Amino acid sequence: MRTFFCIELDDEVKEGLEGIIQSLKRDELWRATRVSWVKRENLHITLKFLGEIAPERVEELRLAAEVVSEGLEPFSLELDLLGAFPHPERPRVIWAGSSSPPPEILQLYRELERELAPLGFPPEGKPYTPHVTLGRVKERNRAIIGRLGEQMRKIEPFHFTAEATGLTLMESRLDPGGAIYTPIFREEF
Ligand code: 2AM
Repeated sequence: MRTFFCIELDDEVKEGLEGIIQSLKRDELWRATRVSWVKRENLHITLKFLGEIAPERVEELRLAAEVVSEGLEPFSLELDLLGAFPHPERPRVIWAGSSSPPPEILQLYRELERELAPLGFPPEGKPYTPHVTLGRVKERNRAIIGRLGEQMRKIEPFHFTAEATGLTLMESRLDPGGAIYTPIFREEF
């Protein structure tokens, strides 16, 4: 099974983010751009992508999640930033993130990486930017891609508060109609 650890978002935040996707889609340039937008129900904050794992490993992952979540209290994360990887001027992944990520999510990420490394999931080795992926640019036309950054800066300011209340191991099934996510377990803070 294909799995990843994430923070789930409540319906209100997903609805708000869906609104941003819709307003981007209304723009002429974005309409002319090939983008795979994330379905509202699939919006989440990835902490760690594990890839294919044997179902028997779920129990050791649950133990790791328990250790990581121990002593953590629910915390808020303000989503107020539209960003892009690898670079806003060359967007491939369009995301919503935080202009000031709370220390709790960075600590959660570090501890998760520390617990998972001995289980054979190596650390990413690059700084973590907490984000919600909104869309993946499939467009290859450089002239179009080059103009997207400017369009992104025109988006109306937004501000949604995501409440992080637990750590979820999610299964991702790749279906021709798009990814289907199913929570395997959720470790509450
Ligand atoms: P992203 O939000 O940064 O795009 C489920 O597929 C999640 O796992 C995605 O949202 C994606 O995070 C992340 N993911 C998918 N494939 C990945 C890969 N090969 N390496 C790292 N992260 C991946």
